[in-house]
Amino acid sequence: MDYKALVQKYDTPLYVYNFDIVAQNFMQIKNAFKARKSLIAYAVKANSNMSLLKHLANLGSGADCVSIGEVKRALLAGIPPYKIIFSGVGKRDDEIAEALEKDILFINVESEAELGRIEDIAKSMGKVARISIRVNPNIDPKTHPYISTGLSENKFGVEIDVAKKLYLQAKNSPYLQPVGIHFHIGSQLTELEPIKEASEKVADLVRALQKIDIDIKFFDVGGGLGIRYQDEKTIEPYDYAQAILSTLSGTNMTIVCEPGRFIVGNAGVFLTKVLYEKRTKSKRFIIVDGAMNDLLRPSLYNAYHEVVVVGKENERGSKADVVGPVCESGDFLAKERELPPTEHGDIVLVKSAGAYGFVMSSNYNTRPRPAEVALEGGKDRLIRERETFEYIIEKEIRFMV
Ligand code: LLP
Repeated sequence: MDYKALVQKYDTPLYVYNFDIVAQNFMQIKNAFKARKSLIAYAVKANSNMSLLKHLANLGSGADCVSIGEVKRALLAGIPPYKIIFSGVGKRDDEIAEALEKDILFINVESEAELGRIEDIAKSMGKVARISIRVNPNIDPKTHPYISTGLSENKFGVEIDVAKKLYLQAKNSPYLQPVGIHFHIGSQLTELEPIKEASEKVADLVRALQKIDIDIKFFDVGGGLGIRYQDEKTIEPYDYAQAILSTLSGTNMTIVCEPGRFIVGNAGVFLTKVLYEKRTKSKRFIIVDGAMNDLLRPSLYNAYHEVVVVGKENERGSKADVVGPVCESGDFLAKERELPPTEHGDIVLVKSAGAYGFVMSSNYNTRPRPAEVALEGGKDRLIRERETFEYIIEKEIRFMV
């Protein structure tokens, strides 16, 4: 890829996504589950760019959404309502009402209180809400604590006994129709055993529910499939699917899978330009024009993203921190990396930045968010323009007195 040409055309900081790789990743998961009916509901939160969603819609993807905003994005991008799921621990009344109105596939319920709200809202609208209960299987996914969700100390889902009670409650309500069951134990999963264990526990619950005439049609296994950022050993989609499918004997459910990172993570890069180099007694800093407001993962999770200086990949170097212009010591993209000497204008490529990159960006320090570009069939095109100063202050300026 000619990153220099892209930077000349679109400037930096810049996100670039390869839509052909997105398609390959999507098909890999779709094919892994082909032994059963399946719905791959892309987790919109990972990267919600409209052109990316349209690309996924064309591939047949559904959408896993965590706000009504994401639901509306998915619909606008052409994902049909019957492929859309609405998850999240804190849905507002208006969000629930709008989801019911849009007639999406189902709402993932995360607490007893939420089930009650959904019932009341459906009743007031004269509707029947299709729901799925998110079960917390209390399993350690062995990932970063901030992105681990399947332990009882986490805020997500309900315990198995509670789930059973909620299913009975839903079955007995004329305004609720239990159609699915859901679990998601964490993100960036690199071990198969916790997934299999969780799937087994939840499948056991499905079989118990069958006995009391509650017929679950959708087995929603969440997302979480990890990717390689550094040298992690990752799980093959085929093995992941097999681990889940092996727990489902005696059932005839459609698999719903909500991958986010796996679809877009390694399909995207972040490009930033070198401004200066600076040395202190103990450190070498490469100061670039991209910062924590553009790509937060290193600062927030101490996440590792591989970085290279474009055109100098094979040059020898010394240890350096790659840091941004934001006024925080926590503003860094990479630490203690072996990097060649750089000059003003050199391009630093940050890899695996397609997931949880742009979506977690902010205007901190009044920095306009980066532009986004898609590559498809060897061609590049702008899919989000760089923000401007005027755009950032637009919501404030007219209130100045
Ligand atoms: N389904 C549910 C219910 C989720 O909570 C998530 C992610 C996904 C699916 C998609 O997970 P994935 O396949 O992308 O691992 N910002 C963090 C990741 C947060 C993940 C939150 N939930 C990061 O940058 O690593």
